Amino acid sequence: MEFRSRLIGVGSYLPEKVLTNDDLPAILETSHEWIMERTGIAQRHIAATNELTSDLGYQAALKALEYASISPQSIDLIIVATSTPDHTFPSTAVEIQSKLGIYNGFAFDLQAVCSGFLYALITADNYIKSGSVKRVLIIGAEIFSRIVDWNDRSTCILFGDGAGAVIMQAEHKLNLPNESGILASKLCSDGRYADLLYTDGGPAMSEKVGKIHMQGREVFKHAVEKMSSVSAEVLNQSGYNIDDISKIIPHQANTRILQSVSKKLNCPYSKIMSTIDKHANTSAASIPLALDYGIRTEQINSQDLILLMALGAGFTWGSAIVRL
Ligand code: ACO
Repeated sequence: MEFRSRLIGVGSYLPEKVLTNDDLPAILETSHEWIMERTGIAQRHIAATNELTSDLGYQAALKALEYASISPQSIDLIIVATSTPDHTFPSTAVEIQSKLGIYNGFAFDLQAVCSGFLYALITADNYIKSGSVKRVLIIGAEIFSRIVDWNDRSTCILFGDGAGAVIMQAEHKLNLPNESGILASKLCSDGRYADLLYTDGGPAMSEKVGKIHMQGREVFKHAVEKMSSVSAEVLNQSGYNIDDISKIIPHQANTRILQSVSKKLNCPYSKIMSTIDKHANTSAASIPLALDYGIRTEQINSQDLILLMALGAGFTWGSAIVRL
């Protein structure tokens, strides 16, 4: 018997505090106009000092469980995509597992920076297809406000905090038309680009977390080129073309990146789900946050064919086509 993954739950959580572009000139030499024009970001959410990544992920998970109307105990795998875990160890995934009162199954963190959610989704899909798990909770959760250098105006303005979660369930594959599931996917990485976007610390390197450093223009070019080409490859693999896609949910880094990607893929910008203005770049949380927003505002509906794409530090990148 073959299995496929069906999305049965989605949820997200944003910290209460909102930092708008207009709040920034008080701490940095910048302006709302510069940030809007170069990035499309108008505001970002910032975690409270007593909030941890596991708290954000836990809140998003509760919403996804409520959406799916299932009990936490029926989850047999939790994957948390994050670059800002609560601790070096144990994983944020086991912290969330414990907060949810789940004492069975297994849980682990996955680190692929801004591609983390896509990596986690495809990993979960492979566990489901193998028949070894029935329900997977996949969370992207980040507190990037703690690893940005608030004196570096070229990076700190870009990021925000938040979490998104989805629940995937194993269903028998019947090969019917319009069957839900992950229909095609591809993940890539190439460590030769590690110097273009990195933190200048880590447990082994400095015993500290480090702060973000980025060569923005270079990252921009690679993001456009790599997200467009891997998406074209995945479309080709699926047998669908761009006109069949209902909505594109890219990693939310920069409006200008998304405009360039839509041109390269020959699709109207209106097909792109964007929450950049509201959430900024929340790294591994950005795709599930945008998915949840799209579903709750009815821009994304059951049966829709969705194209996901992401690029993150490493570089890591990839794409997937999902029928909801
Ligand atoms: N406010 C005002 N001026 C600024 C700011 C700011 N916040 N930041 C930089 N500047 C200035 C610079 O100092 C520079 O001034 P100068 O000409 O006097 O030297 C000028 O603006 C241009 O700087 P650049 O860095 O060349 O600006 P650029 O047009 O490349 O925009 C940006 C910078 C927005 C970071 C852009 O490169 C970008 O979006 N890159 C994509 C990277 C990205 O989104 N990364 C996120 C993580 S990776 C990912 O998620 C895919």
